[in-house]
Amino acid sequence: MFPRSTPSELNDLMHIEFASFKKEDCFTYDRLRYFIKRTTNGKMHSIYFEGKMVGYFIIKFYKFHLRIYSIAITAPGKGLGTKAVEFIAALGVALKKKSIKVEVRQDNACAISFWQKNGFKEEGKRLSYYADGMDAIEMTKDISNARAGKDSHTV
Ligand SMILES: CC(C)(COP(=O)(O)OP(=O)(O)OC[C@H]1O[C@@H](n2cnc3c(N)ncnc32)[C@H](O)[C@@H]1OP(=O)(O)O)[C@@H](O)C(=O)NCCC(=O)NCCS
Repeated sequence: MFPRSTPSELNDLMHIEFASFKKEDCFTYDRLRYFIKRTTNGKMHSIYFEGKMVGYFIIKFYKFHLRIYSIAITAPGKGLGTKAVEFIAALGVALKKKSIKVEVRQDNACAISFWQKNGFKEEGKRLSYYADGMDAIEMTKDISNARAGKDSHTV
């Protein structure tokens, strides 16, 4: 469901990017290619539903936490975002991280609601974080008490 992204998916990934974000916030083709090739402190995964690529997420690894650098899904309301968060949380637990962090546009009520539903809490703000000057809300999910189980991943 969440295979590592490959260069052959770049065109489809660009479509998902433009369908999901304001133009000025979109990653460029080169930036997405960079994320795909990156192997050390970050990974990019595609999201498939019924055989079709419908999204992606990028995670970055830090000493004590994972950061969801971007997530976009063009098949909304099917629980795919929730499943992606479960996958990332299981990875974080397997890597003994304490939390998962994400930044979200203050005006992105849909995403804020999504993160809250998935156990993320508002922790702070990054002023003028986005290209148009919009602030970012920093949200964190505590996984320090979660234990590795059958859903753990080593990817
Ligand atoms: C935010 C996003 C990743 C959610 O993915 P998804 O697969 O639709 O999410 P799920 O189906 O797992 O939804 C889980 C919960 O999130 C909330 N949610 C999801 N979409 C929502 C919406 N449009 N409005 C309000 N709440 C929403 C709901 O509480 C939902 O639970 P419910 O279905 O029981 O009501 C997806 O909508 C997306 O890619 N948006 C555009 C890009 C974006 O904003 N990315 C996040 C940047 S921080």
